[in-house]
Amino acid sequence: MEYYFAPLEGITGWIYRSAHAKYFPGIDRYYTPFIAANQTHKMKTREKKDVAPENNASYTCIPQVLTKVPEDFVYTVRVLDEMGYSEVNLNLGCPVPTVTTKGKGSAMLGDVEALDRFFDKTFELMAANRLMTGISVKSRIGVLSTDEAIPIYEVFNRYPIREVIVHPRTMKELYQGEPHRDVYEEIRRMSKHPLCYNGNIVKPSDTDTFSQDQTVMIGRGLLRNPALVREMQGGPALCKDELFAFFGEVQKGYEEEMYGDAPVLAKMKELWWYAGDLFPGADRELKKIKKARSVSEYEMAVNRLKEGLPH
Ligand SMILES: Cc1cc2nc3c(=O)[nH]c(=O)nc-3n(C[C@H](O)[C@H](O)[C@H](O)COP(=O)(O)O)c2cc1C
Repeated sequence: MEYYFAPLEGITGWIYRSAHAKYFPGIDRYYTPFIAANQTHKMKTREKKDVAPENNASYTCIPQVLTKVPEDFVYTVRVLDEMGYSEVNLNLGCPVPTVTTKGKGSAMLGDVEALDRFFDKTFELMAANRLMTGISVKSRIGVLSTDEAIPIYEVFNRYPIREVIVHPRTMKELYQGEPHRDVYEEIRRMSKHPLCYNGNIVKPSDTDTFSQDQTVMIGRGLLRNPALVREMQGGPALCKDELFAFFGEVQKGYEEEMYGDAPVLAKMKELWWYAGDLFPGADRELKKIKKARSVSEYEMAVNRLKEGLPH
C-alpha cells in the first residue's frame, strides 16, 4: 500500500513536512497546501519557500496548484517543472467559500462542460510548451449530490491525468459525515486512472478493506497521530517522547522563520488541538497550552503535560 500525506493549508508547510519526514519516515509523498496561481504569475514569498527544492529535499514532495484558468495553471506548472518537479497536483476539492465563490476548487466540479474545456485547454498548452510534467488531480465527487460523480470522472477519463485522488464527499458536505466509500468503489470500476482514496482514515483498521495495491491519502489522522502510517506498516505505536521531540523540532523551525511569539504560538496550538486526543485525562494541561500567551508559557505547559505522563 502507498501512503500520501494530505495537503493541509496553514499546517503542513515545509517546516512541518521536513520534521515529520525526519521523525516518521514511511510516507511515500507529501502534497503541499495549494499555491494560488493568478494572472500576475507571481508566487507569494511563503509559497516560493514552501516549494523551494532545498526545503523539500528529504522526501517526495508534490506541489499543489489552485486555479480555474488553464493559462495560469500551465504557467505555474512550467515554473515548478523548472524547479525540478515532475508532477503537479490540481486542486478540485477545496470546499471553502472564499475559494468556491470564485469558481475555483470543488466549485469547478459544478459544470462538467467547463471542466472539460479546462482540461482540453490545459493539455493543449502543456503540449505547446513541450511540458512533460505529470498532472494529477485531487477531487471531490460533486457539488450538491453524489449523482454528479460519474459524469465528472468521465471527463477525467478523457485526459492523460497521472493520478486522481478522490475525497468522496460533495462540496456541500465540507468535511462532515462519512465519506461515500460506495461511490469511491463505483468510480474505481469506471476510472481509467490510478486512484488514491482520501477521507477519515484515522486508525489502522480504517484501511482493512483496501488491498495492498491501493493508495491512500491521510490528513487529519496523521495530525492526530503522526506515527499512524508507521503503525499501519506494522511498526511501533507512537511513543509520547517522539511526539514531544517532533513538536519541538517544528517549533524550532517556526521560531527561525517567524517574527515574535504570536505566529509561532498559533501554529503550535493548532497542532496540539489535533494531537490532544492522544492525552486523555490531561484536559487541564492541554487547556494551559491553549491559553499560553508567550512561548515560555507554552513551553511550561508542554513540560507539565510531559511530566504528568508515564514514559
Ligand atoms: C485545515 C485544512 C486545510 C486543508 N488544506 C487543503 C489544501 O490546501 N489542499 C487540498 O487539496 N486539501 C486541503 N484540505 C483537505 C485535506 O487535504 C483532506 O482532503 C481532508 O482533510 C480529508 O482527509 P482526512 O479526513 O484524511 O483529513 C484541507 C483540510 C483541512 C482540514
